[in-house]
Amino acid sequence: MYEYGQTDVGEINSGKLTFHQGATCQREALPNSGLTCLSKLEPAELSGCFSGLRAEYEKVKGENLRLDMSRGKPCPQQLDLALGMLACVDKDHYKSPTGVDCRNYGGVDGLPEVKELFAPILGVRPEEIIIGGNSSLNMMHDTIARAMLFGVVDGEVPWGRLPVVKFLCPSPGYDRHFALCEFFGIQMITVEMTERGPDMDEVEKLVAADETIKGIWCVPRYSNPTGITYSAETVERLARMRTKAPDFRIFWDNAYVVHHLTSAPEPLKNILEACAEAGHPERVFIFTSTSKISFSGAGLAMLAASARNIARIRKELAFQTIGPDKINQLRHLLFFRDPAGIEAHMKKHAAIIAPKFELVLEMLRTELAGVATWNEPKGGYFINFNTMEGCAKRVVELAAEAGVILTPAGATYPYGKDPLDRNIRLAPTFPDLPELKRAMEVFVLCVKLATVEKLLKTRS
Ligand SMILES: Cc1ncc(COP(=O)(O)O)c(C=O)c1O
Repeated sequence: MYEYGQTDVGEINSGKLTFHQGATCQREALPNSGLTCLSKLEPAELSGCFSGLRAEYEKVKGENLRLDMSRGKPCPQQLDLALGMLACVDKDHYKSPTGVDCRNYGGVDGLPEVKELFAPILGVRPEEIIIGGNSSLNMMHDTIARAMLFGVVDGEVPWGRLPVVKFLCPSPGYDRHFALCEFFGIQMITVEMTERGPDMDEVEKLVAADETIKGIWCVPRYSNPTGITYSAETVERLARMRTKAPDFRIFWDNAYVVHHLTSAPEPLKNILEACAEAGHPERVFIFTSTSKISFSGAGLAMLAASARNIARIRKELAFQTIGPDKINQLRHLLFFRDPAGIEAHMKKHAAIIAPKFELVLEMLRTELAGVATWNEPKGGYFINFNTMEGCAKRVVELAAEAGVILTPAGATYPYGKDPLDRNIRLAPTFPDLPELKRAMEVFVLCVKLATVEKLLKTRS
């Protein structure tokens, strides 16, 4: 089921509504259930629902829970999978296969063997990649900072000297991308996400007309938070589209490039090749990291782009550092060895987290079908959840009061403003299964309560 893009939960007519705790509304499989059905309840029935749910909620509050489903972090068991890496480098193993002493300065763009390891994963050539420090967000930050100070291409005005710079922000999207824009004073334009990626009719129209639009954020595979993977057509249109700004750039954050939850990975067209074929070889900056492959705090980040872009960035980087942490690069190389090693490792991750996704999805299916909508992702770290319009903030508030921390409502939109106040990003990976189950029970209760509250308010 992929239900993102529904504008009104009232359109859903398949689900059942099981308010088991609400004394006066214990019913299953209501005909035409969902909002349509709820809205048909007599005021007295709704009030009965409300009292039952509220009583249950007060009981839960008394449990003093402390559960966190707010951020997409790997759980300790996942981090344990890479522990062996720590023993790969020691006093006898600190040289790269080609003899580079990784303890010393140098190699500003990373070890050649590590480039060879990760280039195929991003679908680029080793000369089209830079291996950096531990955070791709850091590389995105620095890429924007350099664009503001020096521009992205010779002969164009640095972005920071322009009165206005704008980015397109497909939403719901990643809150830290939006935070970066705010930090650098870049104006954000919200573009709707569809099942195939950003609404490309809108994107094409906007970039063709406005030369202050310099970039677009994209999380092309198992997007944060919608879970969708861009279609081949979307990738081609992004590569091909006519932009009024000659120095327009796609920020292609492929954070979940190998993070499949099923044995049938969703295909993603190669953006660098598509850009080259379309005659815009310099258009894209690609980012990824091993934060959710090895260690979130001690992984490897990388930036890929055309050889020309890479040459420019390498020169700029040389002022910033005499070289990255090559010991960590060597650890990753010796531990994973080749792309197949990474693939096998990611299957172990999936074995740990897929049951967590399934638990959440099963509870949503059983408890909230017809009341809300959500996606069923095939990879990545999130479940994208939509309440009835105008309920998301209230759900997050109710959950927080009951001891369950969720990503703040609105965080998935530029400036923290979800126009319909309905989107909530669920992050099931970190808690263990019993904690997750309890957190979801509370979440489900809060969604029901907020929905009934809203209906009662609308009626009065
Ligand atoms: C889309 C996306 N990009 C980047 C990051 C952070 O990456 P890193 O740890 O490499 O800085 C995350 C983390 O959740 C993410 O979801």
